Amino acid sequence: MKPSENEVLRALKTVKDPELGMDIVSMGMIKDLSVRDGDVSFTLELTTPACPFNSQIEQMARSVVENVQGVKSVKMNVTARVREGWTGQRVPLEVPGIKNVVAVGSGKGGVGKTTVATNLAVALCEAGASVGILDADIYGSSLTRFIRDLKFGVQGGKKLKPADGPLGLKIMSMGLIVPDDTPVIWRGPLVGGAVRQMLLEVEWGALDYLVVDLPPGTGDAPLSLAQTIPITGALIVTTPQHASLDIAMKALRMFQKLGVEILGIVENMSHYVCPDCGRTEHIFGRGGGAKVAESLGIPLLAQIPLLPSLREGSDNGTPALVADPASPASEAFRALARRVAAALSVTAIKRGAK
Ligand SMILES: Nc1ncnc2c1ncn2[C@@H]1O[C@H](COP(=O)(O)OP(=O)(O)O)[C@@H](O)[C@H]1O
Ligand SMILES: [Mg+2]
Repeated sequence: MKPSENEVLRALKTVKDPELGMDIVSMGMIKDLSVRDGDVSFTLELTTPACPFNSQIEQMARSVVENVQGVKSVKMNVTARVREGWTGQRVPLEVPGIKNVVAVGSGKGGVGKTTVATNLAVALCEAGASVGILDADIYGSSLTRFIRDLKFGVQGGKKLKPADGPLGLKIMSMGLIVPDDTPVIWRGPLVGGAVRQMLLEVEWGALDYLVVDLPPGTGDAPLSLAQTIPITGALIVTTPQHASLDIAMKALRMFQKLGVEILGIVENMSHYVCPDCGRTEHIFGRGGGAKVAESLGIPLLAQIPLLPSLREGSDNGTPALVADPASPASEAFRALARRVAAALSVTAIKRGAK
């Protein structure tokens, strides 16, 4: 007996994306299905190259089709297409070509916001996505150290060309527009115009994800930025000793008020792994990030260890993921990237993104 297209689709419909809870047929992940004399071929279009369940979905899709009666061979082509994100904000800017904007904020400075933003961006690149990073922290434009030695300039006399970072990452810094010696009180008012320029007048090209390193805190600068950019999801970075409910809560409230979806908390400098004996020490206390996440009702997305090599890397301009790809911190950043990408897919699909 020869199987029909409908029988194959019915089998594929039993495969659910574990994160989304929806079946892969309803989500439009099956393309170009052909069933001829028991030879089946189709394309499985995943929602992001960085999904934690990709290989599981692939295996399940193959096995359910192989089990349809009469199927002789299965040819499955796997691709990924990031869906257009959704933002709950009403913002004046529309940025064509950028599918998702991930804002990285924190209650206060020095907690590793830039380190997290940079390595998250690099991890998304590594997974195969097109990614840009915008340094929008006008108080501490630390990303400029990553682009110091990189080419940067105006292309064709029109749009600004972003600098090329590791693994194809595109980098831009507002520090280039708001110079270091601008008095702090003038910086706030400059932000709106500068961010507009950074989003609209930079040749980003098609991006799956634009990671934005926001200024810390909840003052005028982060607020006016968050009001200007169409943010698809926000992360709040904290450290165990700064994990006071108050500080994280303030940042969270700011995003909530603006209608920004909060993806979760990242606890940085979470613990120290002794390079000699491998023992883990919770120098700044244990469980701070988890406590904050729990009481705020948002997920704790990652716990990044405190590593001297991570500091050296980010201070001399090489993201940890590139300098030391096998370190526990690099693994933690990869896991973070997968969770962020999955959370954005979930929101996009639930909102009916095409
Ligand atoms: N997990 C970590 N382990 C070791 N050093 C870190 C870690 N995260 C950040 N740092 C270092 O701490 C300092 C502050 O980090 P940074 O990312 O610049 O913070 P922020 O952007 O929040 O001000 C930098 O010198 C950075 O290299
Ligand atoms: Mg910073």
